Amino acid sequence: MSKFTIYTVPHPVLKEIAKPVDRVDDTLRKQMDDMLETMYDAPGIGLAANQVGLLNRVLVMDLEWREEHDRKNPIFMANPEIIWESGETSCMEEGCLSIPEQFAEVIRPATVKVKYLDYHGKEAQLEAEGLLSHCVQHEIDHLNGLRFIDHLSSLKRNMMIRRVKKLTKGLEVL
Ligand code: NI
Repeated sequence: MSKFTIYTVPHPVLKEIAKPVDRVDDTLRKQMDDMLETMYDAPGIGLAANQVGLLNRVLVMDLEWREEHDRKNPIFMANPEIIWESGETSCMEEGCLSIPEQFAEVIRPATVKVKYLDYHGKEAQLEAEGLLSHCVQHEIDHLNGLRFIDHLSSLKRNMMIRRVKKLTKGLEVL
């Protein structure tokens, strides 16, 4: 496996809408594997294609790697789609590998049902609550060109972008 570079704000690729994939083939599985490796290495619990400069609807997540520092329970999704969301909401602190060292509380539907194609290209569904729910919604947001800071006031958003610009000065991916 090899690693991708993670793009950080304010890179415009993070505001692009990713396109659906036609099928899950070996090339796409290689992308999924490399994204997972990149995410573990960062380290993070979720990564969407936009964050590595690719504009197809692919995301990877693993909420359990932290305990073992090993590939534990990765979830790969192509063409994820929220097919149901609860009226009840949940507020949780979020961060993002594309917005390093910045955290803020985000309000989202508490539970969602997501339909997607899995690693083998099979249709699958996931019902998520808690951290997994926030994570999958956060990653699907990325595929729609939304960053978690887009859920915040423009004042907070711009402050975080300024901080990241300072932090990544000279390291920008162009
Ligand atoms: Ni993110």
